[in-house]
Amino acid sequence: MTEGEQRNQWNSTYSSKPNFFGAEPSDLAIRAVDIFRKNGCRKVLELGCGQGRDTCLFAKEGFQVIALDYSESGICQMREKAKEMCMDKNVECVCQDLRAGIPLPDGSVDAVYSHMLFTMELWEKEIQFILDECNRVLRPGGLNIYSVRNDHDPHFGKGPHKGEDMWQNPIGFVVHYFSEEKIKRLSKGYEIVHVREFDDPSKPFTKKLYEVLLRKP
Ligand SMILES: C[S@@+](CC[C@H](N)C(=O)[O-])C[C@H]1O[C@@H](n2cnc3c(N)ncnc32)[C@H](O)[C@@H]1O
Repeated sequence: MTEGEQRNQWNSTYSSKPNFFGAEPSDLAIRAVDIFRKNGCRKVLELGCGQGRDTCLFAKEGFQVIALDYSESGICQMREKAKEMCMDKNVECVCQDLRAGIPLPDGSVDAVYSHMLFTMELWEKEIQFILDECNRVLRPGGLNIYSVRNDHDPHFGKGPHKGEDMWQNPIGFVVHYFSEEKIKRLSKGYEIVHVREFDDPSKPFTKKLYEVLLRKP
C-alpha cells in the first residue's frame, strides 16, 4: 500500500461524486443524535466526516461539531455546505490525517463519532493509537460511537489481500474488517456499552457493520 494512494482515491471520488454515500444522514447518525441527547453531549468530534452527510445532521440538531477528515476535497465540500446552511459557526472543519493525532486538548469534547473511519486502510496499531487519542480528548463519562465493516460482510476476505484483515474492494478502496474480538481488544481504557450488528443500505452497496458504543470511565 503506497502512502497517500487511498487519500488520493478519496479526493478524486469526492471531487467527481458530490454525494458519494447519498445526501441523507446515515441511520447510525440518527441513532447517535438520540444517544448524545440522553447523555447530555453538546460538543461532538466527528472523525472521517467525508462530504459531511452526518455532520450536517448534527449541526442542524444543535450540536457544536468539529469535523475532521484527511480528504481536502471532502473538507472543502463540508465547509461549503456549512456556509449554505448558515451553520458555519456550529461546524469547524479540519483537514488532518488521524495517524498524526487529534489536534485538540485533553478532555475537550463530550462525544466522538465516526462512521466507517476505522474500517479504512489503517493498521491495528494505528487504530489503537487513534482510539487512545479519542480517549484523551473525551471528558470523563464522554462517549465514543463508531461503526466498522464486520467479518459477516459480503466483501470480507474477497479481492487483493492488503495485510492484517484488510482487502481491497471492487472500487479500489482498502477495507479493514472487524470481529467482535478485535473490538474488545481495541477498547482498552473504555467501558463497552454495546456492540450491535446492523446493515447499512447507503450507496454504493449494502454493508454489514458493527455499531460500537464506548464510554470513557
Ligand atoms: C468510508 S468513508 C466514510 C465517510 C463518512 N463518515 C460517511 O459515512 O459519509 C471514510 C472516510 O475516512 C477518511 N479517512 C480515511 N483514512 C483517514 C485518515 N487516516 N485520517 C483522516 N481521515 C481518513 C476518508 O477520507 C473518508 O472520507
